[in-house]
Amino acid sequence: MRTPFIAGNWKMNKTISEGEQFIDSLGDLPAEDEVESAICAPFIHLPSLLEKAQHLNLGIGAENAHYEDSGAFTGEVSAAMLGDLGVDYVIIGHSERREHFNETDGTVNKKTHAVLDKNMIPIVCVGESDAEREAGDHASVVESQIEKAFDGIPAESAGKVVVAYEPIWAIGTGKSATSEDANEMCGVIRKKVASLYGNETAAAVRIQYGGSVKPANIGEYMGQEHIDGALVGGASLEPEDFMALLEGA
Ligand code: G3P
Repeated sequence: MRTPFIAGNWKMNKTISEGEQFIDSLGDLPAEDEVESAICAPFIHLPSLLEKAQHLNLGIGAENAHYEDSGAFTGEVSAAMLGDLGVDYVIIGHSERREHFNETDGTVNKKTHAVLDKNMIPIVCVGESDAEREAGDHASVVESQIEKAFDGIPAESAGKVVVAYEPIWAIGTGKSATSEDANEMCGVIRKKVASLYGNETAAAVRIQYGGSVKPANIGEYMGQEHIDGALVGGASLEPEDFMALLEGA
C-alpha cells in the first residue's frame, strides 16, 4: 500500500520570514505512516525550513538542481550541495522550467540520476499541453517523458522516484483535470513504469496529480486507484490551506 504524499510547490514566492511564519502556523501534522508531506521552496528558504521542520513530519524539498556536483554554472545549485544541506526532495522537470529555462528530457534524466545519487527523492514532473491533448497525443507524450526520465535508472532506485502528472493546461489555471482523466493518465504512467521495471516497482512508485488542486477537490483525486498524492502550487502557500490538503488526503 502506498502512503499518500502531498507536496507543496511554493514556486517563486515568500520571503524567508514569511516561510518561517508558514511553518510556525502549521497545526499538528499527520503521522508519517498516514500522510507524507513536504514543502518545496526556493533555494534561499532551505536552511531555515530544514531547521524549523527537523522535528516535524514535514519533508523539505528544492524546486530544481543542477546535475553536476560543481563547476562554471553561474547561478545554479547542485544536487550535491542540496544533499549536503540535508534536503529531502527535489522537483525535477516542472513544466515551467521546461518552458522558461530550457529543461529537456535529457537534463531531467541527468538530474534524476544526480538527485538519487545524493540520496534525495526526485519528484519528476511530466504532462501534456492543451494542443497535445486536443490532438489525442497526451498518453504518448507522457510515456515518452517517463521513458526518457528513467533512462539508465537502476531498478533498485526506480521505486524511490515520485512522478507528478501535471497537465500543463491545468497548472495555475483553476481548470483542473477531472479525477477520472487524471487517474487514467496516472494509470498510463504506472503501466509505462511496469513495462520498464516490472509490476513490483510500478506498484511502489508514488504518482501525484498536480494542476489546480485545492482543499475542495483533493478528496476526488485521492480516491482514485492510481493517484497517490498531489503536487500543489497556489493552495500550498497558506498554512490553513496546506493543512486542509493533508486532511483531505
Ligand atoms: O507543481 C505544482 C503546480 O504546477 C500546480 O500549480 O497552482 O495549479 O496548484 P497549481
